[in-house]
Amino acid sequence: MRAFSLLLLAGAQTVFAKCKCTPTDPCWPSLSTWNALNSSVDGKLINTQPMAQPCYPGPDYNDELCQVMSDEWTNSTFRELSPVGYCYPRVDTCSPANMTSANHTQCTLGTSPVYAIIATEPDDVAAGIKFAKDNNVRLVIKNTGHDIVGRSQGYGALMIWIKYIKTGVTYHETYTPSDGCQLNWTGSAFTVGGGYVWEDLYTAAASHDRIVVGGGDPTVGVIGGYLQGGGHSPSSHLFGLGTDQVLEYTVVLASGEIVTTNTCQNTDLFTALRGGGGGTYGVVISATIKAHPTHPFLGHSLDIIPKAANLSTLLHLTANIMSKYPLLSDAGFSGYAELLPSSDVSLSVPAGAVYFQNFGVMVPPDNASATIQHARSVLTSQVLADLLPYNGTAFLIKSTWYNFPSFSAYYNTISGGRSTNPAGTSDILLTSRMFDKPSLLNNAENLEKMFHTIFSASDSAPLSVTDTVLYLCLIGGGQVLHPAPYTSVNPAWRKTYLLTEIIVLWPEDSSPQTANRTISDTTFRKSNAMKALTPGMGSYLNEADGSDPAWKEDFYGPNYDWLLEVKKKYDPEDAFYCWRCVGSESWAEVTGTRGYGPLCQA
Ligand SMILES: Cc1cc2nc3c(=O)[nH]c(=O)nc-3n(C[C@H](O)[C@H](O)[C@H](O)COP(=O)(O)OP(=O)(O)OC[C@H]3O[C@@H](n4cnc5c(N)ncnc54)[C@H](O)[C@@H]3O)c2cc1C
Ligand SMILES: *[C@@H]1O[C@H](CO)[C@@H](O)[C@H](O)[C@H]1NC(C)=O
Ligand SMILES: *[C@@H]1O[C@H](CO)[C@@H](O)[C@H](O)[C@H]1NC(C)=O
Ligand SMILES: *[C@@H]1O[C@H](CO)[C@@H](O)[C@H](O)[C@H]1NC(C)=O
Ligand SMILES: *[C@@H]1O[C@H](CO)[C@@H](O)[C@H](O)[C@H]1NC(C)=O
Ligand SMILES: *[C@@H]1O[C@H](CO)[C@@H](O)[C@H](O)[C@H]1NC(C)=O
Ligand SMILES: *[C@@H]1O[C@H](CO)[C@@H](O)[C@H](O)[C@H]1NC(C)=O
Ligand SMILES: *[C@@H]1O[C@H](CO)[C@@H](O)[C@H](O)[C@H]1NC(C)=O
Ligand SMILES: *[C@@H]1O[C@H](CO)[C@@H](O)[C@H](O)[C@H]1NC(C)=O
Ligand SMILES: *[C@@H]1O[C@H](CO)[C@@H](O)[C@H](O)[C@H]1NC(C)=O
Repeated sequence: MRAFSLLLLAGAQTVFAKCKCTPTDPCWPSLSTWNALNSSVDGKLINTQPMAQPCYPGPDYNDELCQVMSDEWTNSTFRELSPVGYCYPRVDTCSPANMTSANHTQCTLGTSPVYAIIATEPDDVAAGIKFAKDNNVRLVIKNTGHDIVGRSQGYGALMIWIKYIKTGVTYHETYTPSDGCQLNWTGSAFTVGGGYVWEDLYTAAASHDRIVVGGGDPTVGVIGGYLQGGGHSPSSHLFGLGTDQVLEYTVVLASGEIVTTNTCQNTDLFTALRGGGGGTYGVVISATIKAHPTHPFLGHSLDIIPKAANLSTLLHLTANIMSKYPLLSDAGFSGYAELLPSSDVSLSVPAGAVYFQNFGVMVPPDNASATIQHARSVLTSQVLADLLPYNGTAFLIKSTWYNFPSFSAYYNTISGGRSTNPAGTSDILLTSRMFDKPSLLNNAENLEKMFHTIFSASDSAPLSVTDTVLYLCLIGGGQVLHPAPYTSVNPAWRKTYLLTEIIVLWPEDSSPQTANRTISDTTFRKSNAMKALTPGMGSYLNEADGSDPAWKEDFYGPNYDWLLEVKKKYDPEDAFYCWRCVGSESWAEVTGTRGYGPLCQA
């Protein structure tokens, strides 16, 4: 079986028009060629190794290290430390769990790159790009490895890891671009010089009493996929999307040239990098983003814990709350809510699920009491009034208000179900949909029907929450509705109040057929239930289902063709490729039954 697939891979070069060279191809660079690359990057090239290699028979077997891998496997901070540590490996080819139980007899790199340049400066990036082009090797750009669609993975690839490019996080009390470019922004800013994560920025921002628009989860990278692909945040309602905050990028182009992009120079590239997705136009090595003055925050948390009620009644209540979201958003609320299996929070309730909501409102000091009064009255009259009749034997409804002196106090305490997200596995599929005001307001009945599709395995199956989590990201409305000049996010964002995400899981020991059935049920039946209520809207490309056949339209909307022109202008030879990124339709992975394989011209 193995010999056969190796033969098949070796043949790919001749069968397909043009493929990137892989380690089993005669065209794979020789050791001395790799050594020359290593010298040109001052010894920063490494051969990668699967994280859980110590769990498998061979020279690297090590019981103790294997135990550490098992213990830390869901810790995303831990995974980020490895060049091939991924939150969501596309294919699980080296699990640290009991390898016997999953029938993994060998551990391979799978979709992880085989070589990595631990870049520390722009020249390392340029050397890696040049090598990949000259030797027809697949190239992968990786920051934290958080990408859910697998865009920072690639079988048989050379990776450029930007995590250790670190020229500092610099605060500007007022920001003037070095090239004298005139900006409309007169406030402060941070320049982020490399592979920092949002936690680093939140710390820096708090020390200057500032708010930066960053990830709901502090472990997400700043300058990579998040910023370039959109970026929603507990503060995007107030200030716009993450990408709307970018004032300038420094970029290593496919040609190796280093350029500044802003509203004066390379404006097309600047625009593409503000919403058109990471990994395909060039390598960003620095970004300057807006920093806003901080304010006190009013926080609110709502827990709905069914005691005697069933799942159907919980979904009824959830749909009703969801239909009120635009009213909450217009009153200043934003944040995250979730409906998840009660076992995930160590509760045992007959309905099998609970609803948690954590929202907050920024309080302007010059209008504090009116803002607080208005926000409290909207939430009380629109949401709590409908819920209170259920409080008692059927449900426990907990409603708690908090006052925070600053955004960081709010973020650290309540920002939502988002903080400290565990790393995932390959046995998971996430899909998202943007909801505008008409799809929510006064639409509870249809939302409830949609839930019945989402929380069932087929139209005739009973409701079940066992393998499904619902994230309700109330991160739109407000400033998100205002298009920022020089951005290229899917224009559907500018109508979005809510981003709905469904995460579907299946057991690791599922047969490939079961996994396939679950995936297609999610891609088609469940996603279509969301699409039916949101015509003309889209999916958030960073939190999306890569198998969505309408990915171009759903991820990029009407901007796709323009973005493709920018891609072709700055990367005419396709040095950069990532799955479902702009321009990716020119390439296809020959995956076979293993789920990964050589990258060939389509
Ligand atoms: C636990 C978790 C929580 C999340 N929370 C949020 C959230 O609150 N809000 C939100 O909007 N999204 C969130 N996301 C989604 C997140 O925005 C994406 O996963 C994003 O792609 C992560 O970017 P990264 O650079 O950290 O990851 P990577 O996987 O390293 O990179 C992602 C993509 O960007 C490219 N890339 C990376 N660095 C560069 C660079 N320097 N130049 C050019 N291209 C680059 C890569 O090639 C790849 O295509 C979350 C994801 C996870 C796993
Ligand atoms: C690259 O060079 C460094 C320093 O000489 C060495 O430690 C490392 O193993 C080399 N990498 C590869 C892939 O050979
Ligand atoms: C996760 O891993 C990091 C890095 O090794 C470590 O510092 C941290 O304590 C771990 N977190 C948990 C909850 O174990
Ligand atoms: C792994 O699974 C095998 C077979 O089920 C079992 O014999 C073995 O004890 C397990 N090992 C561990 C560490 O759980
Ligand atoms: C600056 O503001 C003007 C007027 O509102 C607008 O037309 C222009 O596009 C803005 N420029 C930038 C770079 O945001
Ligand atoms: C769930 O509870 C509601 C209200 O008590 C009831 O009308 C409905 O029949 C129940 N559904 C199921 C599937 O038990
Ligand atoms: C103060 O807040 C209230 C409630 O949100 C709002 O109606 C009013 O317009 C605000 N006043 C000022 C001066 O901003
Ligand atoms: C719901 O009932 C419980 C128990 O009586 C009570 O503690 C709680 O405050 C009530 N919830 C609300 C929102 O009033
Ligand atoms: C693993 O192997 C055992 C024994 O051969 C078999 O019974 C089981 O179905 C296999 N599991 C999977 C997920 O293939
Ligand atoms: C999954 O099923 C679809 C048909 O529904 C088929 O086209 C596809 O090849 C299958 N994929 C795998 C990996 O088996």
